[in-house]
Amino acid sequence: MSNIVILTGAGISAESGLGTFRDEGGLWAQHRIEDVATPEGFARNPQLVHDFYNARRAQAAEAEPNAGHVALAELEAKHTGHVLIVTQNVDSLHEKAGSKNVIHMHGALSGALCHACDHRWAAPPSMSPNDPCPRCAAASTRPDIVWFGEIPYAMEQISVALSEADVFVSIGTSGEVYPAANFVADADQYGAHTVELNLEPSAGASRFAETRFGPASQIVPEWVTDELSR
Ligand code: OAD
Repeated sequence: MSNIVILTGAGISAESGLGTFRDEGGLWAQHRIEDVATPEGFARNPQLVHDFYNARRAQAAEAEPNAGHVALAELEAKHTGHVLIVTQNVDSLHEKAGSKNVIHMHGALSGALCHACDHRWAAPPSMSPNDPCPRCAAASTRPDIVWFGEIPYAMEQISVALSEADVFVSIGTSGEVYPAANFVADADQYGAHTVELNLEPSAGASRFAETRFGPASQIVPEWVTDELSR
């Protein structure tokens, strides 16, 4: 019975039609991080930030999981040990594919958060800066997304999972953003077998014991088949 911890990034959703951040023509080539993904940007121009996430929410609502997401859900259903997905993605494609054990460390487009009282609720399809909080009525709602300069969610739970992992797999992430980029080192330190599945070698590829390169829709199902036959 092995514990498997899987870190996913934008690359696993690329073939579902959702753009990545740092690939050519990616989201960060079209938008300034400082404007749409920082608390300071939100304070300067909340409407711009809501427009950005409203558009992404609408796009994500149309997207369907691909064979990579489906294979991970199958792994969770069939593996005799524990499977945890820690995703940096704000879409819900893992859940749509049937995965149950998912941590959204960078938040989710499906959530709204009150800046004033920290209340969380389901985000409507389109949010605006004047939406009142259902609990305290303050007009300071924001998407429940972790921005640069903020602390990712569930870090303690993730640290414990990494310390107990027998296998750590990183899928479709560039390894440019911390603390997620350090999970491979943490898992390795605790003795996990570490695997990178990515279109091409990421910034941290040399830190993994095993690497497989190609589109997620192909290499994730292949890896899952191998893992289930072990
Ligand atoms: P990036 O855009 O930085 O990296 C995407 C990775 O996916 C790259 O290494 C690509 O080579 C790979 N890739 C692209 N298409 C693929 C495919 N079809 N199959 C497999 N791999 C593919 O995205 P992330 O690493 O997820 O944070 O970015 C991490 C964080 O930076 C995001 O969560 C977001 C962003 O700024 C916040 O917004 C807080």
